[in-house]
Amino acid sequence: MITIIGAGKVGGDAALFSALKRLDDQILLLDIAEGLPQGEAMDLNHMLSEQGIDVEVKGSNNYEDMKGSDIVVVVAGSGRKPGMTRMDLLKINASVVTKVVDNIKKYADNALLIPVTNPLDPMAQIAFKTSGFERNRVFGMGGMLDLSRFKQFIHEATGKSRKEIDAIVIGEHGENMLPLTRFATVSGNPLPSIVSKEKLDEIFQDTKSVAAEVIKLKGATVHAPGNAISSIIENVVKDKKQVMPVSTNLAGEYGYSDVSIGVPAVIGKNGVEKINELELNDEEKEWFDKGVTSVKNALGEISS
Ligand code: NAI
Repeated sequence: MITIIGAGKVGGDAALFSALKRLDDQILLLDIAEGLPQGEAMDLNHMLSEQGIDVEVKGSNNYEDMKGSDIVVVVAGSGRKPGMTRMDLLKINASVVTKVVDNIKKYADNALLIPVTNPLDPMAQIAFKTSGFERNRVFGMGGMLDLSRFKQFIHEATGKSRKEIDAIVIGEHGENMLPLTRFATVSGNPLPSIVSKEKLDEIFQDTKSVAAEVIKLKGATVHAPGNAISSIIENVVKDKKQVMPVSTNLAGEYGYSDVSIGVPAVIGKNGVEKINELELNDEEKEWFDKGVTSVKNALGEISS
């Protein structure tokens, strides 16, 4: 069973994509808002009925119902509301994630855990610490969403098929994210060999800033994150061992420990099966380091 905790916009969409991709026979949507997960489940089941897909979606307000889950996604929490500081949001969501993960420990202690709640990297670290799970079992979704945006800008700049684009985004899921233009390829050709330096810089900046633009225009990002969650789940359930950026606890990789941040990882049935260490140049390392500092500062602020 796949459990998605937080049946809001992103949780509902993650359930939609997971069901359409038939990633499990049963998907559970859990939320504290009464009626919301049940209504969302009904709506999804009606869609699946017409599609002829035998995946059952259930909605619940009872954490106990996640018993037996193989994968639990945590996408519960608040977005930033008017008058709320970044720090207010950090503290609110840290307390939501702690409470939710306490329940995962109680009812689904064999599951793989995919944190999504923002700010993603501090929440992934809190989920890792609170759960006490082995680190391969806790891997947050943030970089996969950044990657989908990076690939879209590469597609727009080159006019090449999206299927021909291979790339990676690492680092903090936030302003210090690191779209690795140097490592991107299109049909096997290095991106820096087919677009100008100015265009590369533009793609790099646009990837970083586009989330804010979507939020300004439509209030939230929904389909791309919902789909990115389902892509990580698919990699696990099909044991594909594809390399994906996930926010996971470092134990010496990239020179850091005791912090969760986006790194390229081989994802399979055991979760994070290997972290790939890329040779970063000085400029790339600077962005990565800035991200780590930012995540560590956030964790410090939460605990102060
Ligand atoms: P939303 O407001 O539509 O849904 C959040 C849901 O969480 C609500 O239904 C609420 O009732 C529920 N919730 C709150 N506390 C809960 C608890 N203790 N137990 C169970 N459910 C609880 O928000 P949306 O747009 O779905 O975003 C959810 C989170 O995901 C936010 O923190 C957002 O910033 C984050 N996000 C992360 C992305 C990433 O790439 N990592 C991308 C997009 C959103």
